[in-house]
Amino acid sequence: MAKERTLSIIKPDAVEKNHAGKIIDHLIGAGFAIKAMKQVHLSKSVAEGFYAVHAARPFFGELVEFMTRSPVIVMVLEAENAIQKYRDVIGATDPAQAADGTIRKLYGASKGENAMHGSDAVETAVAEISYFFAGSEVQPKALSPTWVAGESSRRAARCGVESAACGICRPCSAAPRSAAARSTPCSPTCASRRRACPTRARGSPST
Ligand code: CMP
Repeated sequence: MAKERTLSIIKPDAVEKNHAGKIIDHLIGAGFAIKAMKQVHLSKSVAEGFYAVHAARPFFGELVEFMTRSPVIVMVLEAENAIQKYRDVIGATDPAQAADGTIRKLYGASKGENAMHGSDAVETAVAEISYFFAGSEVQPKALSPTWVAGESSRRAARCGVESAACGICRPCSAAPRSAAARSTPCSPTCASRRRACPTRARGSPST
């Protein structure tokens, strides 16, 4: 089975209750390798951007308010079949429906305050990981062919779509984006990557 990566978020409720250490231990014990990790207090716009797919749902406002209430811990986890494995380890969205021994069953309180988030597919994981982490913040080892293919197609897509909103932080062989498009950060890590990108700093297209 191929190695995959998933974005993992330990949500505000679990961090507030000091469950993060036990959760990280649980994930390592289940066989995940931590490839990146940081604690972040999400702004409203960052939370709204991350959960944009749920923007029309009735619980969207409540979800954003909850996710911005206090810090979260975001991680990149790697394992064989990581997407499905992680979903099995954290359990169903509603802790009341989650299997015994799963993280949401152990530490979640409700469908809204359910302790954890995880990516639902390899492609989603690529997008979610790049939303929170610059490439240089993630351990580069042991990438699967599936992952590499997903990452390259994601980069190609971003050249014309979201990456056009940044144009500096995302390595890409396409033509440089417009000055207006470059002025809008595309992720929380965009500003630092923008400053850190020597190719773009010289005013040429990134590679
Ligand atoms: P998550 O895996 O982070 O992805 C979307 C989140 O929306 C989900 O976990 C839940 O926390 C939240 N969510 C889903 N359904 C509801 C609901 N009916 N009421 C409140 N929050 C919900």
